[in-house]
Amino acid sequence: LASIEVDVSALQPGMSLTVKWRGKPVFIRNRTDKEVEEAKGVPMAQLKDPLSRNANLADGATASDLDRSAGKGKENWIVMIGSCTHLGCVPLGQAGEYGGWFCPCHGSVYDTAGRIRKGPAPENLHIPNYAFVTDSVIKIG
Ligand code: FES
Repeated sequence: LASIEVDVSALQPGMSLTVKWRGKPVFIRNRTDKEVEEAKGVPMAQLKDPLSRNANLADGATASDLDRSAGKGKENWIVMIGSCTHLGCVPLGQAGEYGGWFCPCHGSVYDTAGRIRKGPAPENLHIPNYAFVTDSVIKIG
């Protein structure tokens, strides 16, 4: 399937869903306010990968929390390919010292915006093309 539609109406803040798209896991998370605030509070200079890696934005967009999220008004939502940018293992959610994702294969640690903060992975978790087609349905691809 080139694109899929996912109903996220059941996802309360703090809940996640993993769906499969083009053979890969895609993480959809309704982040808590705390997770968003933590990600917003990180100085850009501390980021290992300064780019958003967000297919919905122009190349060169920075990895601010806003540009990693679903955008203004939907900053609680984050949608990412669940494939570690090191060698492609599937990271575990809400794990690791930044409260985001942790890759058990070689210890890469991602923050609550899916940005690489520690370990061998070179890039932030990638964000696929997606859009909210209604308030509770996301179309991926
Ligand atoms: Fe994730 Fe190596 S594949 S740290």
